[in-house]
Amino acid sequence: MLNFELYNPTNYIFGKGQTAKISELIPQNSKVLLAYGGGSIFKNGVYEQVKLALSNFEVVEFGGIEPNPRYETLMKAVAIIREQKIDFILAVGGGSVIDGVKFISAAVKFEGNPKDILHKRLLIKELSQVIPFGTVLTLPATGSEMNSGAVITIDETQEKLSFGGSALFPKFSICDPTVIASLPIRQIQNGIVDAYTHVLEQYLTYPHDAMLQDRIAEGILQTLVEIGPAVVENPSDYKLAANYMWCATMALNGLIQKGVPSDWATHMIGHELTALYEIDHARTLAIIGPNLYRVMFDTKKEKLVQYGERVFNISGNSVEDKAEQAIEKTVEFLHAMGMQTKLSENTNDYQKTADFIVNRFEERGWKALGEKQNITPEKVRAIVEMSY
Ligand code: NZQ
Ligand code: ZN
Repeated sequence: MLNFELYNPTNYIFGKGQTAKISELIPQNSKVLLAYGGGSIFKNGVYEQVKLALSNFEVVEFGGIEPNPRYETLMKAVAIIREQKIDFILAVGGGSVIDGVKFISAAVKFEGNPKDILHKRLLIKELSQVIPFGTVLTLPATGSEMNSGAVITIDETQEKLSFGGSALFPKFSICDPTVIASLPIRQIQNGIVDAYTHVLEQYLTYPHDAMLQDRIAEGILQTLVEIGPAVVENPSDYKLAANYMWCATMALNGLIQKGVPSDWATHMIGHELTALYEIDHARTLAIIGPNLYRVMFDTKKEKLVQYGERVFNISGNSVEDKAEQAIEKTVEFLHAMGMQTKLSENTNDYQKTADFIVNRFEERGWKALGEKQNITPEKVRAIVEMSY
């Protein structure tokens, strides 16, 4: 097992009817920015619950944070916070609103060009340099409610860039599974597949001796396989919704990544597909993931076998046979979750995608991705072209 530090200060508050606790969680006398997305919170009762809990606070509202949150939009909130001397932010929404709030939190006191936070991937570590924030999660998928990372899009340059740091953990996150009842099917499918791929990024590498991390990762994968299609059918079933929400948080709150190698190249390539074609984040992962496992087969085959045997109960004659079956089982699951696994099923304009992504990665110096730093630009090209 590799050495590690485990630091996660988020107060994670799970279950029905927990939103009322917001009133005790935000420091008294705070002036609060209530940040939200395109308006789903007005249709499902979440806004009323939040407003009730905030009745003793002075509140300024900021709506319109879009899916794949835009730098340009977020900077408007930064200006409001500076002008109105706001001292706490409450993010109410999915990963996009929460990520957007992480950027706002970091940008308000940042001296210099806030785009540098993204371009230079600055690590935000000083608590005195951020605006504290809490979250009310409405879409389980990203784990952003219990991690310190965020992904922001700069519209002007079509760049989707990640950043983070230990000062950007939410102070608290209210995670009430009843919010899942109002989610469109497409978003539930996305949430399951995003969480599933987060586990694979941290698990499907090469054999190591961190046995517990593997078992926890496999437990999350098995649970998502078991409940995924059922949540889509019955989003108001509390038992299913609760397990889905907790899986999504556990998939990316940092726990399963401790002491193990991780990959993340599927995400790095996938983010480019969203930046170029606005394909939903999870859907880019379904396009890229299986082809990355195929191109990187020799690096990943032992772990593919373990995954196939333990998660899908497969058997076979050779390592190669079992590893291939594990990839096919993954694709079957992705299809069962409503994913299309080819780029050409999502856009007609895909022919130059590999050139574009390879050039961009070379410009950024991303020449050695993956758990063994052996995903070279040539491998990235092969993965993307195989995904057409
Ligand atoms: O904007 P509103 O009106 O709220 O509607 C949203 C949005 O249209 C809707 N929605 C959310 N909760 C709802 C609801 N509709 C009805 N009922 C509810 N309860 O769902 C749509 C998508 O929301 P979004 O927040 O964009 O989805 P998601 O949570 O999947 O977040 C995706 C973003 O997170 C980033 C992605 O790149 C993408 O930008 N990621 C963040 C990560 C992190 N911070 O650790 C890791 C991930 O890998 C990912 O990259
Ligand atoms: Zn993701």
